[in-house]
Amino acid sequence: MSNMTSQQPSVPPTFELGGDVIINRLGYGAMRLTGQPGNFGPYADWEGGQNLLRRAVELGVNFIDTAEAYGPGFNEELIASALHPYPSHLAIATKGGIDKPAPDNIRANGSPENLRRGCEASLQRLKVDRIDLYQLHRPDPNVPFAESVGALAELQREGKIRHIGLSNVTLNQLEEARKIVAIASVQNRFSIRDRTHVDILNYCTQNAIAFIPYGSLDAHPLKRGAPLADAGGNLREIGDRHNVKTNQIALAWLLHYAPNIILIPGTTTISHLEENIAAASIQLTPDEIASLEVVS
Ligand SMILES: NC(=O)c1ccc[n+]([C@@H]2O[C@H](COP(=O)([O-])OP(=O)(O)OC[C@H]3O[C@@H](n4cnc5c(N)ncnc54)[C@H](OP(=O)(O)O)[C@@H]3O)[C@@H](O)[C@H]2O)c1
Repeated sequence: MSNMTSQQPSVPPTFELGGDVIINRLGYGAMRLTGQPGNFGPYADWEGGQNLLRRAVELGVNFIDTAEAYGPGFNEELIASALHPYPSHLAIATKGGIDKPAPDNIRANGSPENLRRGCEASLQRLKVDRIDLYQLHRPDPNVPFAESVGALAELQREGKIRHIGLSNVTLNQLEEARKIVAIASVQNRFSIRDRTHVDILNYCTQNAIAFIPYGSLDAHPLKRGAPLADAGGNLREIGDRHNVKTNQIALAWLLHYAPNIILIPGTTTISHLEENIAAASIQLTPDEIASLEVVS
């Protein structure tokens, strides 16, 4: 491990989602525990999926990300079958606003009626009275954005949602939504290699909004594997110095980047799960962080 100095950046282990739900910043994204290809249908190894989810919680994960579209529905059912009744410290985030009738047919449906139907179906599948974090999966170009956000605000007023999040949004959409209702999180693609959404991330940091990157290991949503687990260059060099893998350095870098980043790396493998969670204990030096400004 590298030497600690007085200039070590501080890396808080937890974040207060929406100001009142304390979560460990290294969570778990459950999307891959679905039928393949296309994240469609029930996960083939149902019992293996249950074991993996239980192991995640055992290792300290208390934030799990899912969506109605994963399965659709089966991913939420798997989570409930593995973990319900939930420990009181566990927060489950799901998403609505996408129709997925076939593995290769996925389309936004952000109508207020569909968001209400989806939220109520997720409540049933997850076996909860209130969803900790309900995210609009993606804006629907055929529905005024304010109508979709307004529908989520209504569900929150009715007590069905604790906090509201957005996914795959622009900075303008985030600002528009915040005029309607408090937004607790944004889930957009972001990694050490793909920093396209850095403007939204910075805005979220300034406004104490959680930023939940997907693709944190640069994975393709429909293909297996994580390119950042096989990186070379400076990621490899720093990984060797810490005696850890490059995917772990890529995750540690995100935790150092901003205190409001919550990680949800997905995996179907317990050894990968353990490896990813261990990234939370890696302390990077200021020199290492500076050298990762550009990854080779
Ligand atoms: N909002 C959105 O539009 C959106 C889009 C995509 C994903 N998501 C969410 O974000 C979560 C994370 O997505 P993601 O794109 O980061 O990843 P992901 O889609 O869950 O998949 C990660 C991939 O990386 C591999 N992997 C993970 N850890 C590894 C390790 N330590 N070593 C080698 N390979 C490893 C996994 O393979 P193994 O199974 O072999 O480990 C898997 O193929 C998803 O589960 C989902 O909850 C949201």
